[in-house]
Amino acid sequence: MQRRFEDKVAMVTGAASGIGRASALRLAEEGARIFACDIDAGALDDLASEAKGRDLQVDTHVLDVSDGEACASAVAQAVSSCGRLDVLCNIAGISHLDLFENYSHELWQRMIGINLSSVFFLSQAAMPHLVETKGNIVNMASTAGLQGQAHNAVYCAAKFGVVGLTKSNAQEYARRGVRVNAVCPGGVLTPLLRETKMPEGADPELFGRMMPLLPLARAHEIATAVAYLASDDARYVTGHTLTLDGGQTL
Ligand SMILES: NC(=O)c1ccc[n+]([C@@H]2O[C@H](COP(=O)([O-])OP(=O)(O)OC[C@H]3O[C@@H](n4cnc5c(N)ncnc54)[C@H](O)[C@@H]3O)[C@@H](O)[C@H]2O)c1
Repeated sequence: MQRRFEDKVAMVTGAASGIGRASALRLAEEGARIFACDIDAGALDDLASEAKGRDLQVDTHVLDVSDGEACASAVAQAVSSCGRLDVLCNIAGISHLDLFENYSHELWQRMIGINLSSVFFLSQAAMPHLVETKGNIVNMASTAGLQGQAHNAVYCAAKFGVVGLTKSNAQEYARRGVRVNAVCPGGVLTPLLRETKMPEGADPELFGRMMPLLPLARAHEIATAVAYLASDDARYVTGHTLTLDGGQTL
């Protein structure tokens, strides 16, 4: 295993499960100290125990990423307890498929809050620290941030927004030494995918347009892409959407 993150600090959201957990562990295995954030305190404790058992540096912090003030405090705490911030990985997210006419305003707010506003809150709070360390941001978008998907309008709106923030911030901060990239997975075997149900009355033919050519990805495979973009190997890569979708969007 390479050690690309020796002496670096990475803040990772959604770190208690799936892609976030795999990414936090991957960066820690490569030498990073991780400030792991999630809303699920119990699952964060499990992550902390695993990290301790493997001699990895992982601090945990309970955070609701849809709360702007809590996001600003979490960034401040990451910097005060770890001494610096080199990488921000915005990975926390939720999914819900439905017929467009059935989405409530409440669900719209929740999906946008967790999947999109969080990226704004945390990126804005982290940016001064990343300018100082010439660090970078890796946002977890999706193929739903690159193509419209029937019965997935709200998630798509959020993920297109994540791609927009990624490209705009990449432009605005490049000369200050901060890179901003996004990863766009297709289907990944995680609790999020397992728990996402096809809505009643959905048109199965429309879902056919979202099918990958290859079997579903594993969280650790997406973590490999996160680690690449976050590392100096990607020094010349910014504003990029790295798609890992098994051929879904060809
Ligand atoms: N699994 C897929 O097929 C897939 C595909 C493309 C993109 N993604 C994206 O990858 C990211 C991770 O998803 P995953 O598949 O690993 O899901 P997951 O459910 O395994 O993990 C998501 C994590 O986010 C946390 N979370 C949810 N709401 C939160 C909140 N308000 N504050 C803080 N943490 C919160 C959950 O507790 C959980 O630990 C998401 O942004 C998702 O949209 C997933």
